[in-house]
Amino acid sequence: MNHRFERVAIVGAGLVGAGWAIVFARAGQSVSIYDAQYAARASVLDWIADSLSDMERSGLVRDVPAIMARITISDSLEDAVSEADYIQESVFERVDVKRAISQAIGAAMRADAIVGSSSSGIPASEFTSDVAKRERFIIAHPVNPPHLIPLVEIVPAPWTDPSIAPVLRDFMESAGQKPIVLSREIEGFVLNRLQGALLNEAWALFDAGIASAADIDRSVSDGLGMRWSFMGPFETIDLNAPGGVTDYAERLGQLYHSIAMERQHPERWSPELITRVAAERRDALPLEDLASRCGWRDRMLMALTAHRTMTNGDAGA
Ligand SMILES: NC(=O)c1ccc[n+]([C@@H]2O[C@H](COP(=O)([O-])OP(=O)(O)OC[C@H]3O[C@@H](n4cnc5c(N)ncnc54)[C@H](O)[C@@H]3O)[C@@H](O)[C@H]2O)c1
Repeated sequence: MNHRFERVAIVGAGLVGAGWAIVFARAGQSVSIYDAQYAARASVLDWIADSLSDMERSGLVRDVPAIMARITISDSLEDAVSEADYIQESVFERVDVKRAISQAIGAAMRADAIVGSSSSGIPASEFTSDVAKRERFIIAHPVNPPHLIPLVEIVPAPWTDPSIAPVLRDFMESAGQKPIVLSREIEGFVLNRLQGALLNEAWALFDAGIASAADIDRSVSDGLGMRWSFMGPFETIDLNAPGGVTDYAERLGQLYHSIAMERQHPERWSPELITRVAAERRDALPLEDLASRCGWRDRMLMALTAHRTMTNGDAGA
């Protein structure tokens, strides 16, 4: 399928929508942004300009004014989407809200436009079944913030036109993102299922008093995460035994099976457990410092992206 991606609409300009605007404007698309809240429409350009300035200081973008010039704010959904080739929906993660906005987008969009939803885990079939042009809707799930972490999960609904996923994958790639395509819907997609497995184990280890939250975090930030920033779990184990993945599975398959058997009846994250983890976290980082710590995280991501680009280790952006 030949599809142009010159005009992009962003619907929902919170954390994720604003990040998407940077992704597409940086790649040369003209971007129109719509948010239902006036306050979000009024402030998003300042947030984008600040983020781009930070990125420029890290050497990740050049010519911020040219990027900003490609972004406009629309006062109505129709203005934002009616001429768009691609629409990235990033409203609240609630089925009723996603369904209502998808219906409105379906009514206002061109028949040949494509709509990607940023949904973190709700499959498109749960909110597009009765939407006009539902075959043009698909999930395009980013990682926050999308302008600094390139992964995008593309997940078709059963009725999504099968030609859309490969076209969207190419487009995301050309915009500097790193897409993966799932063959079918599954709750949590790939990324949050992997993250969920790690999180569930982290809560369980903390609950059992095996280690503090800080030390469990450290096992990732100063251990596993060092490799994970440029290679995944399969490549990691392939390189961790002289005979590769087969050898690794022979040596350690029994250990991992035994651990999995221990966790056959996972507990919910109980309020009492959450309170204990939160107490440790708030000691380490008072709530009023959360926003500045997010700024630190973003600067670390920029430095990491600059490093990956320079070494072209090709996880590279
Ligand atoms: N925050 C994350 O870490 C993250 C990561 C990946 C994906 N996502 C997904 O991206 C989506 C947006 O998340 P977020 O973190 O940006 O949320 P957010 O609360 O920061 O922003 C949502 C924005 O959508 C707007 N909105 C709500 N209803 C609307 C409507 N009907 N029309 C237009 N605008 C509307 C709100 O005014 C708000 O500005 C969700 O589906 C979320 O699950 C979030």
